[in-house]
Amino acid sequence: MTSSALVCLACGESPPADTAVTCPACGGVLEVRHAPVSGGDLRALFDCRRRERTGISASGVWRFRELVLDVPDGAVVTYPEGDTPLLASRAVARWAGAPGLLLKHDGMNPTGSFKDRGMTVGVTRARQLGARGVLCASTGNTAASLAAYAALAGLPAVAVAPNVGVAPGKVAQIVAHGARMLLVPGDFDACLRLVREAAERLGLYLLNSVNPYRLEGQKTVAFEMLQELDWSPPDWIALPAGNLGNTAAVGAALLQARDLGLADRVPRIVAVQAAGAAPFARSYATGFAQRARVCASTVASAIRIGDPASYDRAVRAIRQTDGVVTAVTDDEILEAKAAVDGAGVGCEPASAASVAGVRRLVQDGVIGPEARVVAVLTGHLLKDPTVVGSGNEPVEIEASVEAVERAVG
Ligand code: F0G
Repeated sequence: MTSSALVCLACGESPPADTAVTCPACGGVLEVRHAPVSGGDLRALFDCRRRERTGISASGVWRFRELVLDVPDGAVVTYPEGDTPLLASRAVARWAGAPGLLLKHDGMNPTGSFKDRGMTVGVTRARQLGARGVLCASTGNTAASLAAYAALAGLPAVAVAPNVGVAPGKVAQIVAHGARMLLVPGDFDACLRLVREAAERLGLYLLNSVNPYRLEGQKTVAFEMLQELDWSPPDWIALPAGNLGNTAAVGAALLQARDLGLADRVPRIVAVQAAGAAPFARSYATGFAQRARVCASTVASAIRIGDPASYDRAVRAIRQTDGVVTAVTDDEILEAKAAVDGAGVGCEPASAASVAGVRRLVQDGVIGPEARVVAVLTGHLLKDPTVVGSGNEPVEIEASVEAVERAVG
């Protein structure tokens, strides 16, 4: 059915069933291995596909299918997704103190977050495997994406989320697309523990980023950004970090791009956490000698996660890219969001963490003033309209020209 195969990173075994999301032999994390490809021709192939406007190459995920999943074109569940803008905002660059800063706006995906890149692959695989339904735990975006792609595929979907704090734009998407949304007392970490157990019992296919196929799709934000930069890698890539799926996927993609000769070197990853939800930053401070777990609290609800599932993979990504992990306060996140929003770009609070992290590391002298930096904006402003830090409130007036004049000064 596919020449892409699962292999356990811990024990090297291949699971007997493709439906496994962790190794049935040792519980280790699984990775997807693809048929070998030769790097030289790949750039030309990907560049040629970039001009296509129809078919699966119109997707910024499936354009890179040799590095994502080997699957017949007709089996792909695609919107299409990806192909998101790489923006140069002078105002944001000035705010961050990094003149070479670009913003990769993955909130411009079909459901408004980067999750669509992984979900197109995960749901494609679910349908191929004959799953009777799909399931995830979520702070909102994964579930919104799951709901949309499951609906595209005609599969029932179940989303388990914390009963407090999911942003209203995400709830609207989940229920509108017809997923069963279950609200659980407790945080995201409790939801993830629950779905890991429930998936097996109910025979539903688990589509959190512990699912190795999801990560294959999430890698493409790195391939796409390299392609947009004419395969000339930036010095740094900054990501908001919660459950660490994205950090793990981007790390794996950058190594793969270098090994295949798509890029001549590996950019350094900056994983940025919210200070109140920063177990990864705490572990990093110990040289990853100790894994930290915290009770998470932050205004950035998407990354309110205390026990990230992709911890091991993300440690590998930071080590292999000579990366840095940092944490920023909620005030810094809101200030960064106001800068991004005010520049006409816009993003949800968690996404602004990447920009806040860049400013912090420039101030600390870790990122040099001449560095080429790409900060990934992971979610759209409209996801969470309750958190707007601009202080610019609508003004109620009477319906007269004089009142308009008074109000606009
Ligand atoms: N940014 C946004 C907007 C997110 O929704 C998430 C994660 C992240 C960043 C962090 O990415 O988990 O790969 O480190 N949202 C998940 C969800 C947890 O359920 O939607 P990560």
